[in-house]
Amino acid sequence: KAYNVAILGATGAVGTRLIEQLEQSTIPVNSLKLLASPRSAGKQLEFKGEKITVEATTPDSFDGIDLVLASGGGSVSAQYAPEAVKRGAVVVDNSSYWRMNDDVPLVVPEVNESALSSHNGIIANPNCSTIQMVVALAPIKQQFGLKRVIVSTYQAASGAGQSAWNELVAETTAYNAGEPVHANILPVKGAQHHYPLAYNLLPQIDVFEDDGYTHEEWKMIHETKKIMFGDKNSKAVKVTGTAVRVPVPIGHGETVYFETNDGAGATTASIQAALRSAAGVVLEDNPAEQLYPQPVNAAGKRETFVGRVRPDLENDDSFHMWVVSDNLLKGAAWNTVQIAERLVALNLVRVPQGASDKFPVTK
Ligand code: A2P
Repeated sequence: KAYNVAILGATGAVGTRLIEQLEQSTIPVNSLKLLASPRSAGKQLEFKGEKITVEATTPDSFDGIDLVLASGGGSVSAQYAPEAVKRGAVVVDNSSYWRMNDDVPLVVPEVNESALSSHNGIIANPNCSTIQMVVALAPIKQQFGLKRVIVSTYQAASGAGQSAWNELVAETTAYNAGEPVHANILPVKGAQHHYPLAYNLLPQIDVFEDDGYTHEEWKMIHETKKIMFGDKNSKAVKVTGTAVRVPVPIGHGETVYFETNDGAGATTASIQAALRSAAGVVLEDNPAEQLYPQPVNAAGKRETFVGRVRPDLENDDSFHMWVVSDNLLKGAAWNTVQIAERLVALNLVRVPQGASDKFPVTK
């Protein structure tokens, strides 16, 4: 069988990579529809050497579609995912809107592919920072258990979309020319204050919660629990972190401190061995040769790169590592297409009878 596929948000930073990742995937595509806002209607993009005209999205856009790859943002997915499911399409959604819904599996194929089997038409793709962290932690948890995680992120501008990436480039150019630097997007679209990212660091990604954490930090905590422990509020592991935007175009970095089970016997060498044989991981860890992962090297690649594995010097069974991945690929477009590939392979591109009732169409 070949599938009728739609990409929602096809003109965005992730959307354009969804087209490219779909092109390189094993999914048999019968037809491809490219959907965006009315601003982009009429624009032409290429898929397998063929020009496709971008269309403005309406509910009827999903008539006859089998599979939707969505990356148009939370409100777009809130509105259109139920419309697509109602019409019999399975949606793999990159936005945060559906991730915490108990009827929606949150999936990283290397970690919890089995969660796909119970889907109801919508499958959520996790946050970019969460994905690369759980890819690196999963093989460690499997062998040595996992009690606690403390992460600090160094997140690229493109994680906030094409417009934020463009803003970083414009700010850098202006700064280098000695011209005034204007910020209109970061740290968060629509926020009260905007600050430049060029030659700067912004310890705010997404909006602030009442407890002083940002929503990005909240996502990393609860998504990690849902993916690795099957429950977004699991008490089986303690997770916390700080998310920081850095002036890098592509590629998120993370320092991850983690505690394995007491007496599980983890060593630097055994953790490195677990990572070396883990799916989706490339170990780049040799201090003697100054070998460690870097965003410039990870950009354009599908894998998650891990290095700087070393023991904590004061806490038993505890370690630190440095994790880097392309936030637009494994963090977004590739993980989405990888989920779709697995759905195809497992014959799961179908909405179960009555399942669309779980996602009522709004307005
Ligand atoms: P457009 O380019 O027409 O604005 P990014 O994450 O890089 O900002 O991209 C967001 C994507 O979501 C773009 O493709 C954008 O299209 C699309 N989008 C934004 N608003 C809507 C909407 N109301 N309906 C459909 N697509 C939308």
